[in-house]
Amino acid sequence: MDTQNAINETQSSYDRIGELKAFDEGKLGVKGLVDAGIKKIPNMFIRPLEDRLKDFGTSSKNKSVPIIDFASLSDENNDRTAEIAKEIIVASKEWGFFQVINHGVPEELLEKMIDRCRMFHEQDAEMKKKFYTRDFQSKSVYFFSNHDLYKSKAACWRDTFYVNARHTGGEVDPKELPPICKDVILEYINPMHKLGDRILMLISIGLGLESECLGNMAKGTKSWSIANNYYLACPEPELTMGTDAHVDTSFITILLQDSIGGLQVLHENKWVDIEPVTGGLIINFGNILQMITNDMIKGACHRVIAKSAGPRLSVAFFFSGVFSSEKIHGPIKELTSEDNPSIYRKFSTEEIIKSFFSKSLEEVGDNLDYFKLKYHGDGN
Ligand code: OGA
Ligand code: NI
Repeated sequence: MDTQNAINETQSSYDRIGELKAFDEGKLGVKGLVDAGIKKIPNMFIRPLEDRLKDFGTSSKNKSVPIIDFASLSDENNDRTAEIAKEIIVASKEWGFFQVINHGVPEELLEKMIDRCRMFHEQDAEMKKKFYTRDFQSKSVYFFSNHDLYKSKAACWRDTFYVNARHTGGEVDPKELPPICKDVILEYINPMHKLGDRILMLISIGLGLESECLGNMAKGTKSWSIANNYYLACPEPELTMGTDAHVDTSFITILLQDSIGGLQVLHENKWVDIEPVTGGLIINFGNILQMITNDMIKGACHRVIAKSAGPRLSVAFFFSGVFSSEKIHGPIKELTSEDNPSIYRKFSTEEIIKSFFSKSLEEVGDNLDYFKLKYHGDGN
């Protein structure tokens, strides 16, 4: 039997569902396994061999996403604003990602956010278990490992603490937040909105739209969500992944990472590391923005590799638009023309969020086809 067959054999001969269920019912995530002292990763985390083989030769060194400096940016719409807006559009077309420095969010707040989120994951297991759930639609604060645990080909080596203020118009009840990180989360929301508004304004200007255009569409009543990912040091990092390749379901995402690294963006079919920049924040464009800009801006495919170093902390702040079943979004009229007709039909944020949760993370990129006019043929 060759290696490929041997591995296929191992992968199919174990009780995968049983292993997933036991892991899920333990409610302690990957940290629970590491705390129990495992030296090899359980089968459920091992990526199929063909997927691992496909990765060979796909990493690209000596390239990096643009760093954009907001230092001289004022609230006025002047020459500097136009220049930065242009830089953002170039970054969006070439990378779908950029890093921003001098963004106005205090560095101490970023450090505190990382520290407190770390404390959430490292607190007493019984406290953490109380937040463990797979009810992602109605709860606003939860802890879990792998939202797509039962759908993906292999589980990823990370735990997640999540705050969802999509359904509540951006409001979160402080009483529901875990005491260990409540204050910093509440403190984090406004600076993220300010920065998010600024970036949406710059993209609008860069695309030749009214400066408030995207801000008005994305923000609604300030709908947002936060995913705090905790990537543990992995004993066999080459066999698994931290986060599978995906495109975010958002207008934009503001991502904070610590100094460990592991995040990669797909650029010209190669994976490029997004190196940590002290005090910097990472901005990436999601598939909602791609659809409403009629593909002028592309959502970027990214992933996080597993590492032997850790734990690595990251905090993703998603702007996904106000949660509604009304089909109010679709390609912006000003961005379409006879020569450049709408690619997508109208859609609601509910539809797109639901389609996100119905699939494995890796399949999210295919979601866009479902929203294409040609998918339905009749444009409805
Ligand atoms: C995400 C994501 C990257 C990271 O949560 O969507 O891509 O570095 N996170 O954790
Ligand atoms: Ni992402």
